[in-house]
Amino acid sequence: MPDLKTIFMGIELRSPVVVGASSLSRRVDNIKAAEEAGAGALVIYSLFQEQIEQETWELDEALSVGSDRFAESLTYFPHIEHSGPREHIMWVEKTRKAVEFPLIGSLNATSVGNWIDYARQLESAGCNALELNLYSVETDPTKTAEEIEKRSLDVIATVKSHVRIPVAVKLSPFYTSMANFAQKAVEAGANGLVLFNRFLQPTIDPDSESIKLGMTFSTPEEQRLPLRWVAILSGQINADLAAGTGVHSGKDVVSQLLAGAKAVQTASALLINGINHIATMNREIAEWMDTRGYSSIEDFRGKLSQSRVSDPYAYERAQYVKLLLSRK
Ligand SMILES: Cc1cc2nc3c(=O)[nH]c(=O)nc-3n(C[C@H](O)[C@H](O)[C@H](O)COP(=O)(O)O)c2cc1C
Repeated sequence: MPDLKTIFMGIELRSPVVVGASSLSRRVDNIKAAEEAGAGALVIYSLFQEQIEQETWELDEALSVGSDRFAESLTYFPHIEHSGPREHIMWVEKTRKAVEFPLIGSLNATSVGNWIDYARQLESAGCNALELNLYSVETDPTKTAEEIEKRSLDVIATVKSHVRIPVAVKLSPFYTSMANFAQKAVEAGANGLVLFNRFLQPTIDPDSESIKLGMTFSTPEEQRLPLRWVAILSGQINADLAAGTGVHSGKDVVSQLLAGAKAVQTASALLINGINHIATMNREIAEWMDTRGYSSIEDFRGKLSQSRVSDPYAYERAQYVKLLLSRK
């Protein structure tokens, strides 16, 4: 049996498959099931300061999608409706006692003081690492990219200087220079980068002429974006990379590892197929490794990263032009 072990931000994971922050972690029986199915770690759903302050319960509802999907499974801690930070932290503490695999606390705050405060509390609650979710929709046309990026970098540096556990940053793909921001995030202290966050996009229902905030599941096609950036950044920046979005099968995990990821995060595939899908993904990775004669992940990780392939331009735009011309 090949060894699926990997090290992400200094934490040993028995599998590269990590459960991404999602409604699944709103029930402790789901978290236990993920541990039993062989997940390497789990990211607990985010503590959103915006949600707490502005009482955007619509957001809470959208992010809760699927949490009751596996209702037949065991008892669970009562769902905390519209809870505040204290309840979230208490819930993390209880969850910590219920499982042994690494737990990553996720945070999306708005003021620097709160980022520090909640980050410390998540650390004290027993999280093995933190994931900073930098998501915000910048709507002020007078604000420059530089100002916005500086604010994010200050958050990373400040949080990092106030906790001892490793800190990952879940990035958006929408930077003018992704590689540059990734590099700056690492310089600010990020130990790991999660590529990428997938956003809650509003839609308009023409029938009721109203705005709907719905969460849809990803498709495997969407993993191309993180795959490209994992391949480009791997070996270029001094941080561990986790690929997220569109990772649905063991083969998808293998692709991201070949690109250079140390781990992957998956949410939609588990909400669609059930938590035991983690065991299937692990089996598919092991079977693939067996067929190729690989005994550990490090035997092949990064083999197809941009810095190691014979045609590095495959990951750049030039190839797209070539492809179009060849179709004439
Ligand atoms: C129902 C649901 C709830 C989510 N809640 C959170 C969250 O609390 N914090 C967060 O950073 N991401 C959250 N996400 C995003 C996932 O962590 C992940 O980034 C995204 O779903 C892309 O991965 P996937 O293609 O495997 O689904 C949520 C996703 C879903 C589907």
